[in-house]
Amino acid sequence: MRDRAVVRARVEGITKILTIPTIVGRITTMVSSGTVSAGEIADEIGKDQILAAKVLKLVNSGFYGFRQPISTITHAMVLLGNDVVKTLVLTSSVLDIVSAMNEHIKGLWEHSIGTARLAGTLAQKTEAKNPEEIALCGLLHDIGKVIIAQTFPEEHAEIRRTVSARNCLQIEAEQAVLGVTHPEVGMWLLKKWSLPASLVNPVAYHSNFHPRRDFADRTAIVHVADILCRAKGVGYAGDHRIPALNRDAWAMLRLDMDDIAEAMANLEDEIRSGLFA
Ligand SMILES: [Fe+2]
Repeated sequence: MRDRAVVRARVEGITKILTIPTIVGRITTMVSSGTVSAGEIADEIGKDQILAAKVLKLVNSGFYGFRQPISTITHAMVLLGNDVVKTLVLTSSVLDIVSAMNEHIKGLWEHSIGTARLAGTLAQKTEAKNPEEIALCGLLHDIGKVIIAQTFPEEHAEIRRTVSARNCLQIEAEQAVLGVTHPEVGMWLLKKWSLPASLVNPVAYHSNFHPRRDFADRTAIVHVADILCRAKGVGYAGDHRIPALNRDAWAMLRLDMDDIAEAMANLEDEIRSGLFA
């Protein structure tokens, strides 16, 4: 088991590797200032064609369920809002890792896109505010797993062996091997990126729900969407177990089984139509 402070320092250090230097910093500062127009931010992103292409690839990866492709950053900003686009700029740097990594991480990415899509649908069904942000929380909920695989390759291999040997949840193996878990690692990364608690909390607490925490409503949605995707085998979350559904989270959604069945049927249709293509 490793020292938590050491693990945290390495996770925070990885932001230096993950972020595309200068331009990402400039864009996130522009968004955070709140005084720069969406058009100016879009212009700044557009100066880096590779970055712009990566952000558009994410926007069009299907997790928002837009029927028409989004072809410009300006259009994405109008539809999604500044905070979401800022987060996508940051997330695009993680995409490079995902595309370079093995089948396990590709399965995890599919699990993340499925969870994002389902979280967005459940957000609409529960009439939660800002379903785009909630979908984004679904996309990012397991980002800590990607970071662990990238930052701690030896421990990650040990975590994989532990999952196989014990047939346990990945989060249990993380605790045993690394002494910290992927929701914590995800939280450290997103905090380091200066993202608001509305995005950080659902990632930090998706496996450890409590109804009195801030942003419990969206955390509940991500928790339920995650478990439904695992139960239905959407992508691969790193183990073959299904975590227990938190009763308080389920109660907070105020949905019935017909709502869930409809949301799942929609997701399965979208997967058949190429959501992961
Ligand atoms: Fe998770």
